[in-house]
Amino acid sequence: MVKIDVKGCESFVDSALYNEYVNKALNAFDVLESENGAGNDFLGWKHLASEMRESTLADIEAIKAAWEKKGVDLVIAIGIGGSYLGAKCVIEALSHNFAKQLKKKEAAEVVFAGNNLSEEYLAELMDLASERNVACIVISKSGTTTEPAVAFRVVKQFIESHYGKKEAAHRIVAITDAKKGALKTLATQEGYKTFVVPDNVGGRFSVFTPVGLLPIAVAGMDIRALIDGVKKAEKELAVKSAENPAVVYAAMRNLLFKEYGKSTEILVNYNPKLTYVAEWWKQLYGESEGKDGTGIYPASVNNTADLHSMGQFIQEGTRIMFETVLHVDSARRSVVIESDSQNLDQLNYLAGKHVEHCNHMAELGTRIAHIDGGVPQIQIGIETLDAKRLGEVLYFFEFACGISAYTLGVNPFNQPGVEAYKKNMFALLEKPGYEEATKAIKERL
Ligand code: PA5
Repeated sequence: MVKIDVKGCESFVDSALYNEYVNKALNAFDVLESENGAGNDFLGWKHLASEMRESTLADIEAIKAAWEKKGVDLVIAIGIGGSYLGAKCVIEALSHNFAKQLKKKEAAEVVFAGNNLSEEYLAELMDLASERNVACIVISKSGTTTEPAVAFRVVKQFIESHYGKKEAAHRIVAITDAKKGALKTLATQEGYKTFVVPDNVGGRFSVFTPVGLLPIAVAGMDIRALIDGVKKAEKELAVKSAENPAVVYAAMRNLLFKEYGKSTEILVNYNPKLTYVAEWWKQLYGESEGKDGTGIYPASVNNTADLHSMGQFIQEGTRIMFETVLHVDSARRSVVIESDSQNLDQLNYLAGKHVEHCNHMAELGTRIAHIDGGVPQIQIGIETLDAKRLGEVLYFFEFACGISAYTLGVNPFNQPGVEAYKKNMFALLEKPGYEEATKAIKERL
């Protein structure tokens, strides 16, 4: 089970108030579990793992095998937001830090596109593609999002011109809505293998559907172990209790926000492989809670690197934040600091110690310093960073997000604010149907 430790908040909060917020979080737990809260038509993510069909996993593995047979060594995964960050975070967390440089990867390299509109990015991606054996996974639940649509038009044309239209259909997989959207129409017409994003699963909760699982599998990660971890978390977190880590997390972060003005939460890691877990988490919490004029701003730091940049602000700047530290008990590799006969660097006092021991002491020292500096600390702990534990912790954050947003009083499963920039962009790009908006926005320039 994912462990949670809120002792680092005790000196900041009143215990009676904490109990009140636990009760609020338990009520929110009931809303989530009874499935009668706002956005309850988007709760399909709750049982994705326990209801996972063997045929879905087998289909995903068959695509990996077919592309391997063709010698595919570069898979371009196209998508944005929830159609990108889940796969990216799992692949980064489970990959060798230097897999690219070592060039001994057994699986294809997965790179991402459609998550920006940078012309340079796409041009340089095509430089890479022209030197490699390429396949593509295009992901858009709505099938209408501009960023992935633009990237896919470029990548599709590249694949068709390199391998021919017929072969392109074997190198492109689409993941989209069952019935609607431009991507669905295109995939049907071109004969692409297609996976469906279930209607009742929103983008940021879709990592355990083919949206996440296909790119993760083609990158060589063990999706079955990942799903095992999610199944375990599904079962453990479904137990209503004041000690349920999802209830504790939801209660404490709402308490810190509502009663103590801690309006920024920083997700902290001490392993660069977790950088994108924080990016995924920021979308999950930012889009689920930041609405109706409320919500905790989700931020992140990668330590110890950021202790030398953001550390000053966190220690002594405006007192608006609390930290949630993603703690990993043990490293999966070993590097021991050796003794040096000259000891010019004066590090012999560390001789015989593991580097991870120093990392843990940096984490502990920072925790104490930040508590002293007025920054409450929540700790979320896993034993080690493997596929199963990662599945557990990602599901924990999803489940806790549902409880937390209901505790806050917002619908966790919509994102109406995402539309505002799109309308302006379409108006400025003079998209057909936006004539009035184009005229209006141009008058404001
Ligand atoms: O969580 C969400 O729903 C969003 O972030 C979407 O994932 C994102 O906007 C991409 O949408 P789509 O998959 O429809 O292209």
